[in-house]
Amino acid sequence: MNRFDHEAKDWDKSARRQALAKAVAKGIIDAVPPGKYEILDIGCGTGLVSYNLIPIAKKIVGIDTSAAMVEEFNKKSPSPQIQAFQKSLRECGKSFDILVASMTLHHIQDLEEFFEEAAKRTNGYLFIADLWSEDGTFHDRGNEDVYHFGFDPHYLAKLSSRSGFEGVTLYTIYQIQKHRNFPVFLLGLQKISESPGARRYPSVPPLR
Ligand SMILES: C[S@@+](CC[C@H](N)C(=O)[O-])C[C@H]1O[C@@H](n2cnc3c(N)ncnc32)[C@H](O)[C@@H]1O
Repeated sequence: MNRFDHEAKDWDKSARRQALAKAVAKGIIDAVPPGKYEILDIGCGTGLVSYNLIPIAKKIVGIDTSAAMVEEFNKKSPSPQIQAFQKSLRECGKSFDILVASMTLHHIQDLEEFFEEAAKRTNGYLFIADLWSEDGTFHDRGNEDVYHFGFDPHYLAKLSSRSGFEGVTLYTIYQIQKHRNFPVFLLGLQKISESPGARRYPSVPPLR
């Protein structure tokens, strides 16, 4: 059992997590053209972000390494079109319109591999919500499963460009109040597709 397995049952009790997830989902909904999308939520947890994305979803797949998180996610599902699985990004076969990773990336060690695997699974958008670079004091229970103390999202945008993404939107979406403020960014990336016949997605507003 990992830390997230232990926390899964009470995860949704946090008003702060609920508010952050709402802000992330709203940021995504505002950024993409109106429509119904197939969405992959990477590190979906109990589905706080996923369930707020229902207005723009044709289908939502959540993936998470924690079995207990997946169980909590699926307990809430109103439809077979919204399901979570205990698996890694590498194990996901399908292609999606929108990928989202909210507060997950700082738990993933190899960022280059993450962007390579993400690029194989969308010709559309990848949204990353995470902490701006922090001093290592964000996680109250220690940093055992934390590989990055937040990020400079400009660096992430640059890194992702090697896998064919382009940064399209960036702003601070939320402030987590603890012993100090921890700002959270929402970075929107769009896949640049050069293959003829590939589904084309309208552009979202430019990076700011
Ligand atoms: C901070 S929680 C965020 C959960 C959810 N996105 C939310 O906003 O409430 C991070 C989640 O990522 C999951 N996770 C950690 N490493 C992962 C990986 N390599 N692949 C998929 N999920 C991972 C954890 O189990 C946990 O549920």
